Amino acid sequence: MKAVLCKVLGGPETLIVEEIAAPEPGPDEVVVKVKAVGLNFFDTLIIEGKYQIKPDLPFSPGGEIAGIVGRTGAEVRGLTEGDRVMGYVGHGGARAEIAVAATKLARIPDSLRDEAAAGLSITYGTTLHALKDRAKIRPGERLAVLGASGGVGQAAIEIGKLLGAEVIACASSDDKLAFCRELGADHLVNYTERNLKEALKSLAPGGVDVVYDPVGGDFTELGVRALAWNGRHLVVGFAQGGIPKLPLNLVLLKSANILGVFWGAHIDREPERHRANMDQLLAWAAEGRLRPHVHAVYRFEEIAGALKAIARREVKGKAILVP
Ligand SMILES: NC(=O)c1ccc[n+]([C@@H]2O[C@H](COP(=O)([O-])OP(=O)(O)OC[C@H]3O[C@@H](n4cnc5c(N)ncnc54)[C@H](OP(=O)(O)O)[C@@H]3O)[C@@H](O)[C@H]2O)c1
Repeated sequence: MKAVLCKVLGGPETLIVEEIAAPEPGPDEVVVKVKAVGLNFFDTLIIEGKYQIKPDLPFSPGGEIAGIVGRTGAEVRGLTEGDRVMGYVGHGGARAEIAVAATKLARIPDSLRDEAAAGLSITYGTTLHALKDRAKIRPGERLAVLGASGGVGQAAIEIGKLLGAEVIACASSDDKLAFCRELGADHLVNYTERNLKEALKSLAPGGVDVVYDPVGGDFTELGVRALAWNGRHLVVGFAQGGIPKLPLNLVLLKSANILGVFWGAHIDREPERHRANMDQLLAWAAEGRLRPHVHAVYRFEEIAGALKAIARREVKGKAILVP
């Protein structure tokens, strides 16, 4: 079967597509015939050995998949051959078949296409966990989303609106912000043209209640400076590269909370809450209330182009890979 392989650590052009043996399911596993793979920013890091998780070589990138159940292990209950499923696999998704623990998979609602389902686990799962479990956001609160047109950013606009927040989308270009408006953002901030703190303060003179921050770098301190009394700053990621340092007097003066978000650990440590969150996301998707945007669909052989587009900040919503 066909697989994208990382055999040596390096940039996207070092990835190759090769024929490898098909997997056999363990007792509690099913083999999923992969139809679509969601790519994420961390795929650009994991192939270079710069991500917190460092799989043994060779491995396939691709942390989330959608596909069809094939062979099932003897102890698997509740899934049968032919079921459409999706789920988070960490890495290893970019191959024609993958053996996955059945408990990690969820059925895809009929109304959801494979390409959209493949991108629902990580970005939307992270965001619902961040806004609901960590920030405990309430209806009417003001939510500023940085990197708002990216994978987790799109999810934060949509889920923020579903949870009743007033959403301020912040991104680097007017084209990206037009996309954010289509997703339902109430206000737009172009942080290339305007100082982020001043722009947020002009929209919300009393400060914003929650900042959703997958970007890091210089934007983190500006976001904290724009917080309201009792505001919450969600530390989601560092797409800009630099890990920010913060003057803690800002946190004291605003009675603010800096909240870490680590979805990959949350799903292992709090599996019940994770499953409830996934059920919620799938229900919203089935009702058409979430519309994961597919920026482009790439073939396995085109993965280098897809990862380079992510690294160049070109992707709106999700880049999806298909066999
Ligand atoms: N904590 C968790 O559990 C968790 C889960 C998922 C993802 N993450 C993290 O969240 C971050 C975003 O992930 P994603 O998959 O949503 O990425 P993405 O789709 O590539 O979006 C990232 C956004 O960050 C902005 N950005 C600013 N500087 C950038 C740079 N130098 N390179 C790339 N993007 C830059 C871009 O928006 P503008 O051009 O508008 O600035 C871009 O749209 C990553 O750091 C990822 O590791 C964390």
